[in-house]
Amino acid sequence: MKSIIITGGAGFIGSHVVRLFVNKYPEYRIINVDKLTYAGNLANLKDIEDKPNYRFVKADICDFDTIYALMQEEHVDGVIHLAAESHVDRSIKDPFTFARTNVMGTLSMLQAAKLYWETLPEKYEGKRFYHISTDEVYGALRLDHPEELFTETTKYQPHSPYSASKASSDHFVRAFHDTYGMPTIVTNCSNNYGPYQFPEKLIPLFINNIRHRKPLPVYGKGENVRDWLFVEDHARAIDLIFHKGKVAETYNIGGFNEWKNIDIIKVVINTVDRLLGRKEGEDMDLITFVTDRAGHDLRYAIDSRKLKTELGWEPSLQFEEGIERTVRWYLDNQEWMDNITSGEYEKYYESMYSNR
Ligand code: NAD
Ligand code: DAU
Repeated sequence: MKSIIITGGAGFIGSHVVRLFVNKYPEYRIINVDKLTYAGNLANLKDIEDKPNYRFVKADICDFDTIYALMQEEHVDGVIHLAAESHVDRSIKDPFTFARTNVMGTLSMLQAAKLYWETLPEKYEGKRFYHISTDEVYGALRLDHPEELFTETTKYQPHSPYSASKASSDHFVRAFHDTYGMPTIVTNCSNNYGPYQFPEKLIPLFINNIRHRKPLPVYGKGENVRDWLFVEDHARAIDLIFHKGKVAETYNIGGFNEWKNIDIIKVVINTVDRLLGRKEGEDMDLITFVTDRAGHDLRYAIDSRKLKTELGWEPSLQFEEGIERTVRWYLDNQEWMDNITSGEYEKYYESMYSNR
């Protein structure tokens, strides 16, 4: 029996990872550790919350004593670490929170695992600390050089407080392998999309705004490029790498699916219009160009050939199918959306966007 802590399991990607592990591995014990910040939402896990192999623990990853005690209590032999502050715009306004959670929180998880595993007779044998990171640590690629992609050996060059904090946490994870021999793995993934994403991120935000015919704030000229992967494909990759990945390795995860923001926004508008029975494209006039994000990275694009060659992973969904499923999910789950966007969050959103 494996006992695995998944941090950040009430968030967007974490909830898909928790769901996959709880359903696929009834013989494992899955402990979801989440502080339930504004981005954590237990409604994301309603369908599995009563499963016998699942436990939720509300805790801050920075709280070393609680995490260490939990490792002892649950005899934890694996950690899949997703908990983080994840939104670039928030990091620009409040970098301290990002340093605290993403850097100190990761260090606290590493140190708790290290100290606990070192008390065991088998020590690190059969143990694994898997850190989920982002392609943003590599900085930005040029628009006019489509042949350039981020590989596992691309130099770290983070630009935003968010990516700087993630880069720092990646370094700590590797340092724990190199210094103490901890069995760590790091993966760096591109932009995810799909159900349960917090609606401050481009795709769910715009789906909801189109539905309510609110302006769509496109940063700059909408020319920035992102590489989009359906979240369930990321969760499948995490499952594969957790079980089959080589210790101390880095794997890049992405679907070779680059889109200019303005083009993906048009696809989203057309899809929402069609599924709502409106004339396709009738909401194009909601597009509103606003002040660019400070330090806005121009282009991200992942080379995931290592993951394919070494472990056989490939995305399972074509983008057209993924975006259709995603838009349909948000339209069918308006109550989930309303529970988030009403009240406090609405005030925050208005203040973020009113001065753009
Ligand atoms: P999210 O913001 O949706 O969820 C983050 C979760 O972490 C929330 O449930 C939140 O409550 C929890 N959390 C935050 N601070 C915490 C703390 N101090 N203690 C315990 N829990 C805390 O994030 P996401 O988009 O699901 O991203 C998950 C991970 O994947 C992050 O590490 C992120 O950097 C990485 N990542 C995200 C993407 C993407 O496109 N969303 C792409 C690549 C990598
Ligand atoms: O690349 C992986 C990263 O992808 C993850 O590490 C981050 O956690 C995740 O938030 C995401 O970062 P981005 O900044 O790329 O995602 P976001 O959805 O915020 O923005 C996507 C693009 O759309 C980006 O170029 C900024 C632009 N944008 C975003 C918002 C919210 C707009 O033009 N308008 C908006 O209102």
